Amino acid sequence: MTSILPVPCLDHLVLTVEDVGATLSFYQKVLGMEPVTFGDGRQALSFGNQKINLHPAGGKIDPTASRPAPGSADLCFLVDLPTEALQIHLDSLGIVPVLGPVRRTGATGPLVSVYVRDPDGNLVEIARQETSGTSGTETPILFESDRLLFRNFHLSDKDAVHGYASDPSVTRMTYWGPYTPSETESFLRRAIRGVSETPRSFYDLAIVAKERGPLSPPVGGCKLHVTDRQNREAEIGYYLEQKSWNRGFASETARALLSFGFSRLGLHRMVALCFVENRGSAHVLEKIGMTREGTYRKHRRKEGRWVDSFLYSILDSEWKSLPENGNRNGTGGACP
Ligand SMILES: CC(C)(COP(=O)(O)OP(=O)(O)OC[C@H]1O[C@@H](n2cnc3c(N)ncnc32)[C@H](O)[C@@H]1OP(=O)(O)O)[C@@H](O)C(=O)NCCC(=O)NCCS
Repeated sequence: MTSILPVPCLDHLVLTVEDVGATLSFYQKVLGMEPVTFGDGRQALSFGNQKINLHPAGGKIDPTASRPAPGSADLCFLVDLPTEALQIHLDSLGIVPVLGPVRRTGATGPLVSVYVRDPDGNLVEIARQETSGTSGTETPILFESDRLLFRNFHLSDKDAVHGYASDPSVTRMTYWGPYTPSETESFLRRAIRGVSETPRSFYDLAIVAKERGPLSPPVGGCKLHVTDRQNREAEIGYYLEQKSWNRGFASETARALLSFGFSRLGLHRMVALCFVENRGSAHVLEKIGMTREGTYRKHRRKEGRWVDSFLYSILDSEWKSLPENGNRNGTGGACP
């Protein structure tokens, strides 16, 4: 039946609350809503094209619902965040979910939901829409190269990551490690937390070899950290399990990071550091067109000694003029 009164969306709803300040703070921290003041000093939480008006319990706003009561609402909000990143976000706020992640059915399709309670005890369902190709633990591919896929880490990567992150032959010339199991887990939690940042500054990504299958454990990790957003600068790095060395994977990874940073993030300059003794890594950085700018002298401690590092860099204009990027019209522009 076609209605004569189609309702395109919900404009706002009203929550009756015991403590307006506590409610504002909860929804601001947990769901990134923005507190707004309107009318006669009334308060609301704005998100998307909707808002929640807050009525203090026992207040004098008229008219109101017949039986307004704090803690009687059951609401569902959609977020565009991998479920694991949401769990880590809640964990970092000290919020223990009531339930979830669980599969639910939303207004337009399947959801993966986590339930929490707000300060009044209202039930707040935080859901991600499941589309084809995603699930509660989906791992979207951010970019790819001929033989490799680059995706966000998830907690189930722990064994694979610990395999290389605890291997002294891998970490001999890295600024971190070798990791204990709890350090590996902390690294993964930090990396997953980076996914929920807007704009995102820390891309710590799993490197997956296509030949082993898209769902196979990572063969290594890489990073692109936006270190200076105003000047559009980032630092890159890469680490591979030992059995994947000398197959050109680091060079392929580093090239893919440059391409992602310059063409997708609109960066101006990318840098990389390597121990002066790390001949393999220095060779990779030179091979992909980076220039050695100089030496940081004894600037980091590693296993009880001060380390010298080479600083390499490449500018967007230099990257665009590399033969493999010939005639590319770069996008430039600001970081997202
Ligand atoms: C360094 C590392 C990333 C290199 O990865 P990789 O996939 O083997 O590198 P690639 O195969 O793409 O290229 C390495 C190049 O360096 C060369 N190389 C390797 N070791 C070398 C050495 N000791 N001296 C000179 N050249 C060396 C290789 O021959 C190859 O050159 P080519 O492509 O011209 O043949 C890998 O060994 C690794 O993960 N090491 C541990 C972590 C680490 O050091 N990360 C870098 C931190 S800055």
